[in-house]
Amino acid sequence: MESRASPPGRIHLVHRVPIYNAAMRVTLFGASGLLGQELVQELKAEQLAALSSKDADLRDHSRVREVIRDSRPDWILLSAAYTDVDGCESNRDLAFAVNCDGAVNVAKAARETGSRLMFLSTDYVFDGSKRSPYETTDARKPTTVYGESKACAEERLLEILPEVCIVRTSWLFGHGGKCFPATILKLASTRPEISVVNDQRGSPTFTRDLASALVQLCRASAKGIVHVTRLLHRCPAGTYPPGSVHARRSLGAVVKTHAIKTSETNLGGVPDSSAGKGRNIHG
Ligand SMILES: NC(=O)c1ccc[n+]([C@@H]2O[C@H](COP(=O)([O-])OP(=O)(O)OC[C@H]3O[C@@H](n4cnc5c(N)ncnc54)[C@H](OP(=O)(O)O)[C@@H]3O)[C@@H](O)[C@H]2O)c1
Repeated sequence: MESRASPPGRIHLVHRVPIYNAAMRVTLFGASGLLGQELVQELKAEQLAALSSKDADLRDHSRVREVIRDSRPDWILLSAAYTDVDGCESNRDLAFAVNCDGAVNVAKAARETGSRLMFLSTDYVFDGSKRSPYETTDARKPTTVYGESKACAEERLLEILPEVCIVRTSWLFGHGGKCFPATILKLASTRPEISVVNDQRGSPTFTRDLASALVQLCRASAKGIVHVTRLLHRCPAGTYPPGSVHARRSLGAVVKTHAIKTSETNLGGVPDSSAGKGRNIHG
């Protein structure tokens, strides 16, 4: 509320619309991705600039700077990343160029325009050996190049933008992209029996829930490190129920599932990790 010029002795109060109710100007990197598509829906009421790699490659500092200068956003949502975990192992330079240096490009441009930055990070910054849920204060200990590149980005962004909001999430599933349930659905339609690892643990997270939470965090002006996952407990990969069971039912498929260990696959993950260390985060 603010006071307006009034006769002496009288105060006339008028209501000002709180800033958090106004449409936010948002620039979204990674709009074509699994999470990005859901964010585009969630941000329909805001002034949104939705970008894929064709609009702005994170590695192109001048282009990143240009799109952020043009849109002058209140918030930048950095969902874009090189998410192919296997690919990162064999392309370390590319992983760091996109996931760390690219994120730094965005953070520097955000600092110039005074925009807030929300960075999507991952449970891969941990090694998965902890027997209880990870806290935001736990030390990073990545065991994959993908995890290292994200951990490096987190550290750099906190230096450049102390007010950055880093949201770590895990095991995304949703519409419009590759994810574990979609893979199960595809396999179930072509094979009588499928093998599913059951020695990995994680918290499957629905992209729609996450997108909604991210927008609420923006409106709450969140900063620092936040963990956002759907389930509060760890879910073994072989029992990943929210999508896979539903997907199989809706397909009407009768499929036998055969539990296997990560070591029996070419995934090379870390068994029983809360980080869900399958090599392909999209299942
Ligand atoms: N999926 C998971 O299970 C999971 C778990 C934890 C954390 N995360 C994090 O959550 C975020 C979203 O993941 P997601 O699964 O939605 O990713 P995704 O489906 O793989 O989408 C990646 C997005 O990044 C864009 N991109 C890739 N390289 C780029 C580059 N060099 N410059 C600009 N844009 C580039 C892609 O654009 P194009 O389509 O144009 O290539 C796409 O929009 C990521 O930061 C990821 O690390 C994901």
